[in-house]
Amino acid sequence: MILVTGAGGKTGRAVISALVQRGATVRGIVKSAAAAEKIRALGAEAVIGDMLNVEDMRRAATGARAIYHIAPNVNPDEIEFGKTAIAAAKTEGVERFVFHSLCHSQIEALPNHWWKLRVEEKIKESGLNFTILQPTPYMQNVLGQWHNIMERGAYEIPYQPTTKLGMVDLADLAEVAAKVLTTEKTYDWATYELAGPEVLTQHDVLETIRRVTGREIRLEIISREDWCNRARKGGMAERAVEVFYKMFGFMEEYGFWGNPGVLDWLLGRPARRFEEWFNGVWKSRA
Ligand SMILES: NC(=O)c1ccc[n+]([C@@H]2O[C@H](COP(=O)([O-])OP(=O)(O)OC[C@H]3O[C@@H](n4cnc5c(N)ncnc54)[C@H](OP(=O)(O)O)[C@@H]3O)[C@@H](O)[C@H]2O)c1
Repeated sequence: MILVTGAGGKTGRAVISALVQRGATVRGIVKSAAAAEKIRALGAEAVIGDMLNVEDMRRAATGARAIYHIAPNVNPDEIEFGKTAIAAAKTEGVERFVFHSLCHSQIEALPNHWWKLRVEEKIKESGLNFTILQPTPYMQNVLGQWHNIMERGAYEIPYQPTTKLGMVDLADLAEVAAKVLTTEKTYDWATYELAGPEVLTQHDVLETIRRVTGREIRLEIISREDWCNRARKGGMAERAVEVFYKMFGFMEEYGFWGNPGVLDWLLGRPARRFEEWFNGVWKSRA
């Protein structure tokens, strides 16, 4: 049995689906009964609990041979989530620990990256057999704009249109995670960057959206301050807002991408490009 933490989120659900597809027995730890229902529908067993609670994590890890650890997105408790998951793995005799990190975790200017690097260190000090996966931003983040694109004909971003990103398809990432988790030994003691296959400016992204939808979508730049105020009003914690502010500034100044070679190698085929992915989404939703 493989335990997936943070199982109720979009990453968790994608990894569970990929694991179930490979015939693995999967358990997920989730926060609520509603999230438990969602992952049961995907074919996983669900444990409702708090990932910061040692006893809940031990209960979830009992009988697992591997843990795929996903911390909630941009969460100031990232290091605690990591330590609790590692401790549960050790006490419950789990053999393998696979960590969902992010690309370029070494960037100290970005707190969420720096937290992930600390967790990577703890894993390496744990004595567990480990694999660390480091994805770039997901193509699926664009879906946060679906309503704007469809209802207002606008693609809204909190950085300049020249900002370059190397986005990865979450389904490709989940396929790799499932392959790593269901293959013994081959991927132990490794850290893999999972970077999308192309480096695209926001102009490129917009052009693709226009081409696929056949609609005259316009680009709207929202200031980082306005984005943050909106997030605060939506209930986002101040520490998370501050991280997003820094992240958008970093992306605008330096861009964010990695080398796609490792992802192609792990997949055993070329990774999905943005247009192919968006086309699939458009056909399934429009
Ligand atoms: N998005 C990207 O482009 C990207 C790129 C690279 C790496 N990543 C990494 O991917 C990871 C996952 O991102 P995501 O967007 O899938 O995460 P997410 O949507 O925040 O999912 C996390 C899940 O964990 C649950 N949760 C929160 N606190 C919990 C607790 N104390 N105990 C049990 N469950 C709890 C959440 O439930 P509630 O929703 O009910 O709170 C949610 O279902 C993050 O670590 C992020 O850094 C993301």
